[in-house]
Amino acid sequence: MAKISFEKVPHKSPTPADKRTALMADPGFGRVFSDHMVTVQWTQGVGWHDAKVRAREPFQMDPAAAVLHYAQEIFEGMKAYRKPGGGFGLFRPDENARRFNESAKRMAMPDVPEEMFLEAIDQLVKVDADWVPSGEGSYYLRPFMFASEAFLGVRPANEYIFCVIGCPVGAYFKGGFKTVQVWVSEEYTRAAPGGTGAAKCGGNYASSLVATKEAFDNGCDQVVFLDAVERKWIDELGGMNIFFVMDDRSIITPPLNTILPGITRESVMKLASDAGYKVAETPYSFDQWQADARSGKLREAFACGTAAVIAGIGKVKYRGGEFAIGNSGDGEATTKLRAQLTGIQRGTVDDTYGWMRSVAA
Ligand code: PLP
Ligand code: COI
Repeated sequence: MAKISFEKVPHKSPTPADKRTALMADPGFGRVFSDHMVTVQWTQGVGWHDAKVRAREPFQMDPAAAVLHYAQEIFEGMKAYRKPGGGFGLFRPDENARRFNESAKRMAMPDVPEEMFLEAIDQLVKVDADWVPSGEGSYYLRPFMFASEAFLGVRPANEYIFCVIGCPVGAYFKGGFKTVQVWVSEEYTRAAPGGTGAAKCGGNYASSLVATKEAFDNGCDQVVFLDAVERKWIDELGGMNIFFVMDDRSIITPPLNTILPGITRESVMKLASDAGYKVAETPYSFDQWQADARSGKLREAFACGTAAVIAGIGKVKYRGGEFAIGNSGDGEATTKLRAQLTGIQRGTVDDTYGWMRSVAA
């Protein structure tokens, strides 16, 4: 495909600086949005066309648009950071582009050329550069694609919209950067073999909400899902992967298949292994988790993902009770790995892995 060029139609009345500053003072996660968006359309027989960087505004959608009925939708999540010397750094966006296309394949959607995906990201960061926070915050980018064709028959749609929006964000969890409590759902599962667990599609999150609500109702921050076949093995959280740190410096994380192949997960595995931990992708049962936490063999557990970064897990609750992990605060490995990862992301630690993509100011 020929390189797609983006038409730039800047916002006619962007948010005034003083209002933007006020909005960015305590943005939380996913509540405050920047002024622009990128859109590109896809039509069967034509391919990608009408690429635009333009004012963020509501979509005009036909009530029969396939996404509204059959949820043919995928998304990504990634962050841009202000670099100490000026300009911006994006953490492994090529991996997001690759995973986006894996999700597209699973959902019978068109391939998005990696070059187009990355160009769309760069363009949005550039046009909304003033929305990229300094300090502890970051600019969260949400690329997504949905079936826009008006058609109620059940088949892959013939029209799609690819879009990128962005928002300045602080900590993902309510209450800031903290050790979290998780709820193990023994009733609801997230993904079965052959299903869509490894794809980042909206439907996975829709079906997770009832379990997430149960977690919130029980005073927890996130839900932990068990495997759908035996209801025995730890899979992942509603929006994060999970790691377990043992007393012999070994670190375990559940293997891929029905879980999302997290980019943070893969990065943490590399960082931990290079720091001398024995890292293994091994099935880990809920029974073993309880036994190891109670015996003290398990020293730490943490959740990781783009939105949450690395969050220590202090307490685990379930229908039958609860148990604490370590001293219920962030452990040594959690703290060290987070410092190294966020240092690379923010440009204060050498990027020896070549993970960062620069965007000029
Ligand atoms: N698992 C789920 C279900 C997620 O939604 C996410 C977030 O993107 C992750 C894991 C972590 O993936 P990543 O580290 O690529 O953000
Ligand atoms: C992310 O970490 O980017 C996610 O997508 C998790 C959640 C916000 C859905």
